[in-house]
Amino acid sequence: MNLFLDTADIAEIKKVHEMGLLDGITTNPSIIAKSGRKFTEVIKEICSFVKGPVSAEVLATDAKTMIKEGLELAAIAENVVIKVPLIPEGIKAVVEFTSKGISTNVTLCFTANQALLAAKAGATFISPFIGRLDDVGYDGLELISEIREIYDNYGYETQILAASVRHPIHFKEVALRGADCVTIPYGVFEMLFKHPLTDSGLAKFIEDSKKLTW
Ligand code: G3P
Repeated sequence: MNLFLDTADIAEIKKVHEMGLLDGITTNPSIIAKSGRKFTEVIKEICSFVKGPVSAEVLATDAKTMIKEGLELAAIAENVVIKVPLIPEGIKAVVEFTSKGISTNVTLCFTANQALLAAKAGATFISPFIGRLDDVGYDGLELISEIREIYDNYGYETQILAASVRHPIHFKEVALRGADCVTIPYGVFEMLFKHPLTDSGLAKFIEDSKKLTW
């Protein structure tokens, strides 16, 4: 499963990149706004060292302007993926990007039917938001299983990029359910390492190692 960070924080991105585990980055307008920096500047900086897919979201809601914005974003670097909301105008824009060979990430997906439409449009990635579904009383993880089954039924190559991931159980479950990629905040990445038995086991090894000669 490819591991993406859902952030525009350069320091966080560098930590995971330097560890050798980073496959790509996802951003959205809220994440970029949090950085307090100019949108295109942040994307450019991320792409200066992240060579995997970097999702940058269009701000418009009509296909014509989405295409214009998307072409500008795509010109920043060859690994920029144009993130487009799952609305009819967005799907129109995805069809156009697909015909031009530009990669897309269709975002704000909350149903399997929406995911099917994105795949038909030729989306490179579909982003089901599992945490936000859980927040309103639906089963976000079930959506991952449904999309996996439908995409496999028809051989769609659109990659399932599980998003809105809140904790390590989400991470494990999307892997079990066959998501191609997952995007996580840095805080969740740190949690993946944690287990009290790892910490206590290591403390004991360190203590006993003092009795050893190399
Ligand atoms: O980037 C999209 C998605 O991962 C947002 O997550 O936590 O705002 O629901 P969240």
